[in-house]
Amino acid sequence: MTQRRKFLKFLAASPLLANYSAFAQEVEETLGQRLTDPSEVINVFEMEAIAREKIPPAHFGYLATGVDSDTTLRANRAGFSRFQIKPRRLVDVSQIDTSVNVLGTEASSPIFLCPVGSQGAYHVDAELGTARAAAAKGHHMILSTQASTPIEAVVEARDAPIWHQLYATNRWENTVAMLQRAEAAGCSAVCLTIDLPGGRNTETQQLLMREDTRNCSSCHTGQAKPMLDGLNTRGGMSLSDPSMTWDVIGRMKEVTNMNVIIKGIEVGADAALAVQHGADGIVVSNHGGRAVETGLGTIECLPEIVTAVDSRIPIVIDGGFRRGTDIYKALAMGASAVGIGRPYCFGLGAFGQAGVERVLDLLNRELQITMRGCGTPTITSIGPDYVQDAGHRVLRGRLGREIF
Ligand SMILES: Cc1cc2nc3c(=O)[nH]c(=O)nc-3n(C[C@H](O)[C@H](O)[C@H](O)COP(=O)(O)O)c2cc1C
Repeated sequence: MTQRRKFLKFLAASPLLANYSAFAQEVEETLGQRLTDPSEVINVFEMEAIAREKIPPAHFGYLATGVDSDTTLRANRAGFSRFQIKPRRLVDVSQIDTSVNVLGTEASSPIFLCPVGSQGAYHVDAELGTARAAAAKGHHMILSTQASTPIEAVVEARDAPIWHQLYATNRWENTVAMLQRAEAAGCSAVCLTIDLPGGRNTETQQLLMREDTRNCSSCHTGQAKPMLDGLNTRGGMSLSDPSMTWDVIGRMKEVTNMNVIIKGIEVGADAALAVQHGADGIVVSNHGGRAVETGLGTIECLPEIVTAVDSRIPIVIDGGFRRGTDIYKALAMGASAVGIGRPYCFGLGAFGQAGVERVLDLLNRELQITMRGCGTPTITSIGPDYVQDAGHRVLRGRLGREIF
C-alpha cells in the first residue's frame, strides 16, 4: 500500500477530520478501481497517475522532478497554450502518413524516445522493454549514457540503429571510448548533451525520497551503468566536463563517423553556433525542466531557433509533450521530430513494455486525429500556416484547473 493510500485511509478514519472523510473515501474508491489493462488507459496523464502508484516513491521522484520550484518544468507545458492550431478543410485525408526520415533514420512516427537514464528503476523490463516497444511501433530511440542496460543489447532489441546519448566525461579518452563503443554497437548518431555542465537542485525528488521507507543501500551498490564499464576512473570520473566549449563538435568528428547532434539548445545564437561548428542536427531541450530554472518552455524557444538554423540541419525538440496537438504544433513550427521522455517511462513503470506501447499508440492516435482534422495528411504538409502565436499563455484548463 502506498503512502498516499495510507494517508487517505488515515483521513477517512480520523474523527478530527470528519468533513474530509467522505471525500477521502471517494478518492480511495477511485484508487481502488485501478486499471489493470494498458488498453484501458485513455491518455498520458492517466498513465502518469498509474505510474505514480506503481513506481517506488524515490524512483518516481527521480522521474518527475524538475529543479528548485519546478518552474521550467511547468513552463514546458504552459508554453503550448500560447500557440493555437489553424485547421484547413476539404483536403483528402483518407490516408495519413506519419513517417519521417531524420539524418537517414527512418521511423513510422515523428515521436522519438528521448534518452532517460536508469530505466531499471521503473520496471524490470527497463531499456529492453522500451526498445522492444519502439521496435513494435516503429519509433526511433536514443539511449542514455546512464542506461541500466548495455547498449549492444538495446540495439539488438530495437533491431535498427539507435542514437547514443553522450555525457562527455572529464577525461577525453573516456569520451572517445564511449563513442567507439556506440559506433561499434551500430549507433548511427551521437547526441551530446550540453545542458548540464554541473550541479542541480532536484527538490521534488528529495521530497518524494522522504516518502520511501525502503532500505535503498541494499540496491544502490557498485556500478549499475554498463556504458561506464571499462572506463578509466583513476582519480575519480565525472559525467560532465565544465571546460567544454564549441570546439568539442570538431573533436568528436575526428574520432567518430556517427552524425553529431547537440542536445540542449535553447536560444537561436547557440543553434547558429552549432551549425557553424559542424553539428549534423540539434535537439531543442531544457532537459525536461531539469537543468536551468525559470527558463522558457521549449516550444517558446523554437521560433528563434528555426530562424537561426534556416533549414540547414534538422531540429528535434523535447520538453513537456503530452498531447498529439503539442507534437503537431512543433512540427508546424519547423521541428523535424519531437522527443518524449517521461511519458514513455510512465508507461514503462505502469505496465512495462506494454505500457510504453500504449503511450506510443495514444500519442500517435492523437497526432493522426489532429493531422486529419487540419487537412495535413503527411508530416511534410504540416507547415507554419497551421499554427499561430497568440503571444500569451493560457494557464487554466478544463474546469478551471491548472493545465499542468
Ligand atoms: C528521469 C529522467 C532522466 C533523464 N536522463 C537523461 C539522460 O541521461 N541524458 C539526457 O540527455 N537527457 C536525459 N533526460 C532528459 C530527456 O532526454 C528529455 O530531454 C526530457 O525528458 C524531455 O522532457 P519530458 O520528460 O517532459 O518529455 C532525462 C529526463 C528524465 C525525466
